[in-house]
Amino acid sequence: MGKETFHQFYQSLFGDRWAQLHEALVSPIKNTVAVVNPFNMDESWRSHIQATTSPEWSGILLPQLVSETPFPAPSTFGLKLSPYYLLDYASALAALLLEIRPKTLYADFCAAPGGKSLVSLFKLQQPLKALLNEPSPDRLRRLKNNFAQYLPENILADFSMTSFDGRRFGLHRAENFDVILLDVPCSSERHVLLDQKELEHWKPKRSKQLSELQFSLLCSAFAALKKGGQLLYSTCALTPLENERQIERLIKKRPGQVEVLSHPILETYFEARSQGFIALPDRQGMGPLYCCLIKKMA
Ligand SMILES: C[S@@+](CC[C@H](N)C(=O)[O-])C[C@H]1O[C@@H](n2cnc3c(N)ncnc32)[C@H](O)[C@@H]1O
Repeated sequence: MGKETFHQFYQSLFGDRWAQLHEALVSPIKNTVAVVNPFNMDESWRSHIQATTSPEWSGILLPQLVSETPFPAPSTFGLKLSPYYLLDYASALAALLLEIRPKTLYADFCAAPGGKSLVSLFKLQQPLKALLNEPSPDRLRRLKNNFAQYLPENILADFSMTSFDGRRFGLHRAENFDVILLDVPCSSERHVLLDQKELEHWKPKRSKQLSELQFSLLCSAFAALKKGGQLLYSTCALTPLENERQIERLIKKRPGQVEVLSHPILETYFEARSQGFIALPDRQGMGPLYCCLIKKMA
């Protein structure tokens, strides 16, 4: 029942494209990259890795042999700090979009397990004042463990790790942050498709309910952003309701305050939506990842 409704729903959104997109979503993931940890000084692992570097940033290693497990698990090398972080290429590219400098006050309101923020920090390679928030206690623990595995203590010392509902920041920290990453909880259709139980219980209202939480988070993050600051909204959802419609709603709610930015990385690797960009595995060979870079106008 849920399975049939699921396919009808996405067929109506993607039309003829759904068959090929569905096939790509259920195929083994082949877009994993390794993002090099600049805080790990032991380079012995390099001789065990066959990779080229991304044209966008030398810290992203692309596998030479494309497979489900193109790189050994980082723990294999037994180093004090893990030498690289594995994640989807689209997520790594999205994390490069944020302009982070040493004086930037950075926030990630939905942070766990922490991959995208780690990429931003690896790129900067310097101490930074940051707030990392994750309301789920289990996932907060995972975030802390990950950060301890990848970052030295002097970098961690400048971080505040909190466990609030992200919807609170707009009120309590209004116009406070220079850069905010908002990678919201979403429908994650790829996970639904790979989990028969979830697929059987799937209902179209799932996306609608999540979109209400996402919009509250987006309004809160926008309120917490300084004028002139940048916000990256992202999801791994396929539905426009959770993606471009959210940005359209924000533009309507805050007229004259929202500037949607483009970026060469988005124009090269993603496909344009009415607002923002998406990478999907059938055409871009990575993702799903929707992202929209926003500037708060003065
Ligand atoms: C897509 S994941 C974030 C992934 C993370 N940015 C990364 O790159 O590793 C979304 C996170 O939002 C958290 N979340 C759920 N409800 C939230 C809320 N009301 N406020 C803030 N975060 C929330 C979830 O627990 C989940 O860890």
